Amino acid sequence: MSDCNQAGDVPAAGRREAIKLLIGSSVALGVGALTAPLAAALLSFHRADVVKSGYASVEVVLCESVDNCPDQYSVPISELEQGPKFVLLQKGSLAIPAVFGLVRATDGKLYPAAYNIVCTHFGCPVNPLGGPYLSGFGCPCHGSVFQICADPKGCPNGALFLEAAVVAGPAPRPLRPIKVAVKGDRVYALRAYI
Ligand code: FES
Repeated sequence: MSDCNQAGDVPAAGRREAIKLLIGSSVALGVGALTAPLAAALLSFHRADVVKSGYASVEVVLCESVDNCPDQYSVPISELEQGPKFVLLQKGSLAIPAVFGLVRATDGKLYPAAYNIVCTHFGCPVNPLGGPYLSGFGCPCHGSVFQICADPKGCPNGALFLEAAVVAGPAPRPLRPIKVAVKGDRVYALRAYI
């Protein structure tokens, strides 16, 4: 399995000085198919590269390709079936706190995704909201709530699929995403944004 993200479209008009942003994962897993052989569960690809303004973030390349990505940047899908998992992604002197999980989308498929959990307000670590599937995050410091867009066609207020958009509180921007890919029975983080 290779990195599946594709180049994205420039979204809504008025977004000029856009920077490239990669959101979540590109691979959908069929609901209920996680108990089947994993190869059979890889159902479709999702266009996950998007271009969005206002994301002044720095890209950190963890792995150039999923084929040579070490397991320290990954989580077994069997663990994600139990609920979101925290992973500290370390590269050199950088340590990026991340949460991996499965997002149940409105198309009935499960999409592996991961996010940098540093709040975009003042940097507190955010917590995943309850439930086995990743649906959003809450910040304990000043109450920001980030909701993951689960509609492959996009969500209200211009939120893009798998974007962890701000729906409450003072945070000025969505959570920074982590680009992931599936290989074998694991979900790997390829690129993070800080
Ligand atoms: S640091 Fe998260 S809302 Fe302020």
